[in-house]
Amino acid sequence: LKVLSVVSELYPLIKTGGLADVAGALPGALAAHEVEVRTVVPGYPSVMAALEIASTVVAIEELWGGPARVLAGKAAGLELFVVDAPHLYARPGSPYQAPGGADWQDNAVRFAALSWIAAQIAMGAVPAFVPDVVHTHDWQTGLVAAYLTYDGRRRPGVVTTIHNIAFQGRFPASLMPMMGLPSYAFGMEGIEYYGGIGFLKASLRFADRITTVSPTYADEILTPENGMGLEGLLNSRRAVVSGILNGIDDTVWNPATDPLLPAHYTVSSPLGRRLVRTELCRRFGLVDDPKAIVFGVVSRLSWQKGLDLVLAGMDKILALGGQLVLLGSGDADLTAGFQRAASTNPGRIGCTIGYDESLAHLIQGGSDVILVPSRFEPCGLTQLCALRYGAIPLVSRVGGLADTIIEANEMAIDAGTGTGVVFSPLSQEQFEGALTRVARLHADPTLWRRLMRNAMKTDVSWSRSAGRYADLYRGLVVERGA
Ligand code: ADP
Ligand code: GLC
Repeated sequence: LKVLSVVSELYPLIKTGGLADVAGALPGALAAHEVEVRTVVPGYPSVMAALEIASTVVAIEELWGGPARVLAGKAAGLELFVVDAPHLYARPGSPYQAPGGADWQDNAVRFAALSWIAAQIAMGAVPAFVPDVVHTHDWQTGLVAAYLTYDGRRRPGVVTTIHNIAFQGRFPASLMPMMGLPSYAFGMEGIEYYGGIGFLKASLRFADRITTVSPTYADEILTPENGMGLEGLLNSRRAVVSGILNGIDDTVWNPATDPLLPAHYTVSSPLGRRLVRTELCRRFGLVDDPKAIVFGVVSRLSWQKGLDLVLAGMDKILALGGQLVLLGSGDADLTAGFQRAASTNPGRIGCTIGYDESLAHLIQGGSDVILVPSRFEPCGLTQLCALRYGAIPLVSRVGGLADTIIEANEMAIDAGTGTGVVFSPLSQEQFEGALTRVARLHADPTLWRRLMRNAMKTDVSWSRSAGRYADLYRGLVVERGA
């Protein structure tokens, strides 16, 4: 079975969040199910630099303001179709924003172009790879399904995955003439969304299957509280909506071999973890106190992630004898808040603002507890990494966090099921209650060792979920009679 995946970021070539991790890991996991994946990705500078032996398979004189070509090639073990269109993608900064932090002004065009090219490949523009199914991700590739549908010819089945419904790709109606779609596509039954153009809306309207990244989030987005305006459309398509839990790449995230860790460890020989913790304390200037609980955060600093609770709970953390290390970037107020906390509590709180892959691994490998108090969380990957690395996740009971972490009271720990601490509803009081619970568990070394063992033994790999995607693709092919 051939699948064309279309995505705006892809680990290890370019990443702003979990979307890249998922898009980068799924092809390898699907290979075990005899699904062959090629990924369409923009030719950002880092992608172009990583591309090995590539050949031009499509050339276009004029793609939204400049020439473009599609290169077929490999990078980091991934089979790619790279859209080399320098006028759209050869820029510094993130895939979505200029170095100053403002969205690129032509994002509608940049991702319409990506989607349009992907639709051409889906319809057979590269005879060597004609897919049975197209898999799009998030708003950036939402127009693929629209281009394919309005094309009118027989098209492959389309699966779309919602990684975060908060980002919807809404643009002014005035851009409609530039979208390369018939004008009648601008309507309720098309790509119109609250008076403008909706990229995510388009994919939810036209895809044959809609998935999201955890079963609980699949339920949540059907409600007005969490559907963020799309719940009506999603309810009308309820029969094709499902949740498939993310995994993590357990070769990239493996404490027994991780080259980014200063020492290695496993469930049965955990001693190396102590050395990683010491190195973590050194890197963040913390007092290396074996009795203290080292709380870790690796996150985008945004409202979604609920880190204002951590900031407001700083006194509680310190009162419990805790310490905090934080790695993140984003919101200016949160940044300033954590920097202030670190400078007034040297030796107890350390914070690094920025994006740093290797520091993320060190925090997972050395922290005692990883904090993920999200307001909403489609799946969340940091708590999965934490399980694998024996850092105990303390999470809010929402979305994928609710589906992956099991509250660890003494009985649940003994039964081998409890893996973390879960609080609900999202409030300062409940969060601080969870801090108290985790401190109580930590105070009992035997219990804590068992808890770590439970966490590390949890299967966080892609194996089960890759099978679910493979089944979904195959079911779709059968349904469409291909
Ligand atoms: P989201 O995609 O909403 O940001 P996820 O938990 O799904 O949340 O994925 C976040 C991914 O990005 C994880 O792999 C995490 O380790 C990584 N990450 C987040 N912030 C940073 C950072 N500042 N430095 C390095 N890695 C980060
Ligand atoms: C989004 C979500 C996150 C999810 C990731 C990968 O960024 O915020 O919860 O894990 O996508 O699916």
